[in-house]
Amino acid sequence: MTGSDKPMKVLGIESSCDECAAALVEDGKIVLSNVVATQIPFHAAYNGVVPEIASRKHTEWISGVVRESLEKAGIGPDGVDGVAVTSRPGLLGSLLVGLSFAKAFAWARNIPFIAVDHMLAHLYASRCQALSADGCQAPEYPFLGLLVSGGHSIICRVDDFDDITVLGATIDDAVGEAFDKVAKHYGFGYPGGAVIDKLAQSGNPGAFRFPMPNLYKKSPQGTEHNYDLSYSGLKTAVINQLEQFRVGPKPEQAEIAGNEGANIAASFQKTAVEILLRSLFRAAEDTCLRTIVAGGGAAANSYLRARLTERTDLTCIFPPPELCGDNGAMIAGIGYQYLSRGQSSPLDVTASARVSGFKRKYP
Ligand code: KG4
Ligand code: ZN
Repeated sequence: MTGSDKPMKVLGIESSCDECAAALVEDGKIVLSNVVATQIPFHAAYNGVVPEIASRKHTEWISGVVRESLEKAGIGPDGVDGVAVTSRPGLLGSLLVGLSFAKAFAWARNIPFIAVDHMLAHLYASRCQALSADGCQAPEYPFLGLLVSGGHSIICRVDDFDDITVLGATIDDAVGEAFDKVAKHYGFGYPGGAVIDKLAQSGNPGAFRFPMPNLYKKSPQGTEHNYDLSYSGLKTAVINQLEQFRVGPKPEQAEIAGNEGANIAASFQKTAVEILLRSLFRAAEDTCLRTIVAGGGAAANSYLRARLTERTDLTCIFPPPELCGDNGAMIAGIGYQYLSRGQSSPLDVTASARVSGFKRKYP
C-alpha cells in the first residue's frame, strides 16, 4: 500500500536474457498483467542465445511490451506508482535496454525507480498471485530456496526477500543449461528443458544409470561442498550414450533408435533431479528448515515437482508455471517490497553481467 493506503501499482521490466517482459503488480502480489514476448524463434537456429540479437530485439520490442502490459492492466502511464527493473545478472547489452527504458519512464513520470536482482526476483515469484491462481502462498521466513535456471543452480537459506545465504551452487553447468545442452544433441534446438521433460514422460527413468557427482566430502577442517552441485559429468555421459543409439548422420541428430531416445531423456531427467535433491534434502536436514521455495525456469520441471511433492514432511512451494521462467511480474513484486520500505535506486545505477563471488556470497 502507498502512504495513503491506496494500492500501489508497480511496473516490472525484465530484459536480462531472451524474454522481453513487462507486468503490472498491485501491492507486491496481485498480478494485473504479465506480458512476455519471447525471442526464442530468433535464437533457436543458433542453439543458444545470441547476445547481439537479444539486445536488438529488446530495443525493438520494449516500448510495445510495456504499452501492452499497461493496456492489459487497464491503466495509463499515470496509474503507475513505481518502476522496477532487472539490473543483474544477465547479458549486459540486454539488461541495459530494460534499465534505460525503466529509468526514462520513472524520470518522465517523476515516480520512484528500483533496480533489482534477477535471481532474488525468481525466488519471489511464488509470492505473486498469478492471474490463473486462486491465492498466493507466502511462507514465513526463514526457508530454504532452490533457484534453478539456465544460468544458475543455487541452494540457499532465505531470511528475507533481499537476504539470502548461499549454501551450495553448481561448480560447473547450471541444471537448465544441462537440459539445454542435452536437448541440442537430440537436435531439439534451444531451449531444451520443456522438450526433454515432455519426451521423458514416455520413457523409462530406470533404463540407464548415469553418474552422480560425489562432491560431498568431509575434511579435517570441516565440511566442503556439502550442498554443491555439478552437471558436466552427467551431461557428457548422456551425450555419449545418445551417440551410441544415433541412426543417421549429424547434424540432423534427431534420429535415435527405438524408444531409447525417450528412455535416455527419462533417465537423464531423473539423475539431474536426484543430484539437486540429494544436496537440497541434506541442507533441509542440517538447517532444520522444513519449507522449500523453488524458482527459475527449471522449477517448471514435472519430475522435480513430483519428487518434491512426495515429501509430505516438507512444505514445497513452486511458482505457477507461467511465473517460473523470466517474467516482469516477479520483478514488479520484489520491486514493491523495496519501494514500500522507502528504498529506491539513483538514476545513475548501472547493469552488471555477473554477481561477484556469488558461489558463496550471492548477492
Ligand atoms: O529462469 P529462466 O527462464 O532463465 C534464466 O534465468 O536462465 O530459465 C530458463 C531455463 C532453460 O535452461 C530451460 O531449458 C529451463 O529453464 N527449463 C526447464 C524446463 N522448462 C524450462 N528445465 C527443465 N525442465 C523444464 N520443464
Ligand atoms: Zn531467469
